[in-house]
Amino acid sequence: MYSFFLSEVNSMYGLDGKVAIVTGSGRHGGLGKAMAQRLAEEGCNIVIADLGRTDGELFPTHGVGTTDEMEEVAEEIRSLGAKVTTIPCDVRSEEQVKALISGAVSEFGRLDVIVNNAGIGYLMQLVTEMDEEKWDAVLDVNLKGMFLCTKHAAAQMIEQGEGGRVINIASQAAKSGFPYASAYVASKHGVMGFTRAVAIELGSHNITCNAICPNHVTTGLGSWQNEFFSDALGMTHDEYMEAMRSRIPLGRAGLTEDIAKACAFLASEQANYITGEAMNVSGGEEMH
Ligand SMILES: NC(=O)c1ccc[n+]([C@@H]2O[C@H](COP(=O)([O-])OP(=O)(O)OC[C@H]3O[C@@H](n4cnc5c(N)ncnc54)[C@H](O)[C@@H]3O)[C@@H](O)[C@H]2O)c1
Repeated sequence: MYSFFLSEVNSMYGLDGKVAIVTGSGRHGGLGKAMAQRLAEEGCNIVIADLGRTDGELFPTHGVGTTDEMEEVAEEIRSLGAKVTTIPCDVRSEEQVKALISGAVSEFGRLDVIVNNAGIGYLMQLVTEMDEEKWDAVLDVNLKGMFLCTKHAAAQMIEQGEGGRVINIASQAAKSGFPYASAYVASKHGVMGFTRAVAIELGSHNITCNAICPNHVTTGLGSWQNEFFSDALGMTHDEYMEAMRSRIPLGRAGLTEDIAKACAFLASEQANYITGEAMNVSGGEEMH
């Protein structure tokens, strides 16, 4: 789908020379990579940020983007003609987040867009069995990480004095409950509240803050969740996917490009009067 060179792309939103960080973007097939690529197609210089390493059983190989994978993703986007750098960053660490923001600025001179996409959704347990350390891990990445990245990115944007964009990747789980996912659902509902509060605080600096709420996209995490929920519900994978499609008015699961398009729009001038929103990108499955 993205086999063309950037100069041949019809940029819809003209973000030439803007600088965007996308956290959790160092995995093939992930939402982060798709958003980074789409922003690059719009002319942004891109920082691919990701954990870069596995970290014990809570952050296993199937859940994280390693430095090798980050470089591969960056190289793929560079091959389209974009300027891309990689910076490993654990969003749970304020020191690493500060280094991410200063690294982006020293590489590209400024920061205009932060996409808070890093997240974990594979630590699933019933609430009566939920381990405290798993609860903490989910909340630390999905919510505290978003806070730390927003704090330091927004400070940089305020210093520049030219506005900016904070785009938070929430979920359908920001609006509805799901079993086995109390930590994830709580974190994503938290993202929505955080987005609204930050939108009010940053409005006077012309920095917008919005959330995107995807329903299901078959990324690495999405595939893992399909397996998990079909097992938990005693269904085959095909039955599970068919039941999912039947709930979605547009009749299909989301594609990474669907989320990337919404991200590019929110990053653009076309969205300059939209802030504090939590935009469903769900084929109509989620409507409130
Ligand atoms: N796939 C879906 O159906 C779906 C639906 C709704 C919301 N989301 C959200 O979209 C985002 C991306 O998910 P995805 O489906 O592309 O999954 P993914 O697993 O491909 O991406 C998550 C990324 O977060 C990174 N990450 C994890 N812990 C980190 C940490 N401590 N510091 C920095 N990075 C860290 C991982 O390395 C990975 O690259 C997540 O926030 C997820 O909750 C996904």
